[in-house]
Amino acid sequence: MKINVLKGMYDVLPEEVVFWQFIEKTVRETAALFGYGEIRTPILERTELFKRGSGIGTDIVKKEMYIFEDRGGRSVTLRPEGTPSVVRAYLQSGVTSQGEIAKLFYIAPMFRYEKPQKGRFRQHVQFGAECFGIKNPAIDAEMIIFLLTIYARLGLKGFVLELNNVGCGKKECRESVRKGIKDFVSGKTNSMCDDCKLRLEENPLRILDCKKEGCIEILSGFEGTDSLACESCRSYYKELKDLLSANAMPFVENSRLVRGLDYYTAVVFEVTASGLGSQNAIGGGGRYDNMVKELGGPDVPAVGFGAGIERVIMALKSQCPDFPVSTATDVFVVYQGEKALKKVLFILNTLRLKLNISAKAAFGKSMKAQMRTANKLKSKYCIIVGDEEINKGVFKLKNMESGEEKEITENNLKSIRQLFRGKNE
Ligand code: HAM
Repeated sequence: MKINVLKGMYDVLPEEVVFWQFIEKTVRETAALFGYGEIRTPILERTELFKRGSGIGTDIVKKEMYIFEDRGGRSVTLRPEGTPSVVRAYLQSGVTSQGEIAKLFYIAPMFRYEKPQKGRFRQHVQFGAECFGIKNPAIDAEMIIFLLTIYARLGLKGFVLELNNVGCGKKECRESVRKGIKDFVSGKTNSMCDDCKLRLEENPLRILDCKKEGCIEILSGFEGTDSLACESCRSYYKELKDLLSANAMPFVENSRLVRGLDYYTAVVFEVTASGLGSQNAIGGGGRYDNMVKELGGPDVPAVGFGAGIERVIMALKSQCPDFPVSTATDVFVVYQGEKALKKVLFILNTLRLKLNISAKAAFGKSMKAQMRTANKLKSKYCIIVGDEEINKGVFKLKNMESGEEKEITENNLKSIRQLFRGKNE
């Protein structure tokens, strides 16, 4: 029986890998501009890390983690999100003890046992960034600008930044937000879904996230969490909005944006893109000032984001069918006859190793089939080698777009380089 990839997972084949490389390159280049260093943490961590870091009340921890016991009897989990792992690594590295600011980014696979659908996978890859050691609306603004700059440099258009203040989590602030939500829905709880009835006791904020018609209806007219939050986080949030406006960064306030993780303190943001259906969040994040302490470290504030690469690719593909770069082959070498075959490797080696030009050939196929492959690969040029040409010491060079043909001598193969001026030089 054939063995297929697991449900909700996928292979990235060579035709697709160019999209990934393009995004990874853009993320790395942009991170360098913003002063972020790359961090790589293990895919497998102690389960405890995510229970304490992501929060036991979240769907991710309650229902979606890939948990198992290793051979030493430890409970371990495939990383469902990057933030707790980065905090752990940051603490373990000892940087915090010197009170230094750390700016870290990552590109890493995440595992969530969710119901797969368009744009939602059980393994997805995020690029993300975390900044430790600064609490200032300017760093939150910079973090948002960092994310939006990546989208812009990728050529993505029409994305929308949504913002909210969910309350800073200090006792009075949290109580006020909880009470405000509870009061608003009181008397209407009978028509709430069963999950929300539970949420009302455990974490009322989560009710705002419910996608069920009835619950959305109940919350219509809700004034939003920002107006229920404490003075200090309201003014922090206002300063952030002012900074974004002053820097021509448009945003939409979404009073129901709470995000799926419990650790956020005050600022949360999400970026959505059109053409993706219901899974339209291409990235999100916020401030989380308590996690470092909760994971055993000192009182260090933090802010960050995570963005799903699969959704970004889907959005880019729907916006520009030519995305991202031409994957065309530079030169395809077509040959006919045994004697010519011997020359093919010489030509390929010269193009690839000496001239830095991408080159392909299809060995053991008829001339017609080779030409078909050359066309399929959108080759820019073909070098055609037949017995007759070999006897004369020349090859035929065909421009596949114009159809124009000319001869080049074997000794002057390097003249092809000038056709690709600026490329891979
Ligand atoms: P998150 O919103 O859970 O946040 O995930 C970030 C992004 O990953 C989402 O906006 C979405 O683009 C993508 N994503 C999430 N789940 C899936 C899935 N099942 N399939 C495909 N794409 C998905 C976090 O993970 C936080 N760690 C972000 C953060 C960093 N907050 C502070 N620092």
